[in-house]
Amino acid sequence: MSSTDILFKPFKLGNLELKNRIVMAPMTRTYSPGNVPNDLVVNYYKRRAEGDVGLIVTEGTFIDHPSASGYPNVPALYGEEALAGWKKVVDAVHAAGGKIAPQIWHVGGIRKPGVEPGGDTPGYSPSGMAMPGKVTGHAMTKQDIDDMVAAYAKAAKDSKDIGFDAIELHGAHGYLIDQFFWEGTNQRDDEYGGDLAGRSRFAIEIIEAVRAAVGPDFPIIFRFSQWKQQDYTARLVETPEQLGAFLQPLADAGVDIFHCSTRRFWEPEFEGSDLNLAGWTRKLTGKPAITVGSVSLNADFLPEDGFVDFKNAEPASLDNLIARMEADGFDLVAVGRALIANPDWAKRVQQGELKQLKPYEKELLQKLD
Ligand code: FNR
Repeated sequence: MSSTDILFKPFKLGNLELKNRIVMAPMTRTYSPGNVPNDLVVNYYKRRAEGDVGLIVTEGTFIDHPSASGYPNVPALYGEEALAGWKKVVDAVHAAGGKIAPQIWHVGGIRKPGVEPGGDTPGYSPSGMAMPGKVTGHAMTKQDIDDMVAAYAKAAKDSKDIGFDAIELHGAHGYLIDQFFWEGTNQRDDEYGGDLAGRSRFAIEIIEAVRAAVGPDFPIIFRFSQWKQQDYTARLVETPEQLGAFLQPLADAGVDIFHCSTRRFWEPEFEGSDLNLAGWTRKLTGKPAITVGSVSLNADFLPEDGFVDFKNAEPASLDNLIARMEADGFDLVAVGRALIANPDWAKRVQQGELKQLKPYEKELLQKLD
């Protein structure tokens, strides 16, 4: 059994100081009626902070645009009530010694009309598609793009004002920003389409606008992925050179930390090297990187039938993670499902009690608080 000490080294980036390297992965909960985070939500995040998570990234929380939300009871990141709810979450996490960033989200073409608070608004996406080749919604105009960029920036500024420690932009998994990146869903012939550089323009404008809104010292985390929920085999880049060319403009625009979303952290990203996506990102950009994907579990996130396979997820050894952290040089490790089931996962790891985890599904099904 290798020592887990490396997970518990403090992390510092500018003003952001984390007590350890453990990040709670953003996970949608749909437990915010009226799109307002309530006291159950406060308690949920507080428990993870009390369990010694270094940085909590919240569930996706949507920007101020009628097309932004794709699922019922997801919290908003605008409006007096929702922001007051989030402020309570932030204060509770801080009181428990934790740090917290909201994951700023727009679902893009995934949205179907009828999901509140957007009413009849259709899905908005670069070419009216959430799936390659299938037009189901509204293709965004230049005005829509400008409105959206402004809404992201406003959400980031509001987040800073209510005390969040950083923000994360959701640029992954086939949602709006990723629909621009992905050539399957971005068939535009203006400056927001074309090659990957063009398809990155929307993200770059968002990052620049967020940076201008929050100032130079406030950390911006950017989450991206090769895989899409619409297609697990989709890829944005095929080589390290292409990855570097994709990420460098995002870094130049103002990203401080990259959150490299993979379903299994132990998989090498490109042939000919053992480095995973976070390892490559760290090496190519020099920016801190977060790895994620089945940490401490031995079952995949989203297996083939599309459901999260809680039942077959059992605790797995961290040896492989620690070895990779040392070899690949990534800085932070995000943990998802293991932290739903065990708010004190970090404490258990530190105390060497991981083997005592209870079966995940029992606690999960009984109380998702
Ligand atoms: C997720 N995931 C996710 N990702 C994201 O960027 N925004 C989100 O809102 C969500 N929502 C969400 C809900 C639930 C119930 C799960 C299980 C997952 C993906 C998540 O952040 C993470 O990348 C994966 O769960 C893989 O990590 P684990 O669970 O294998 O540690």
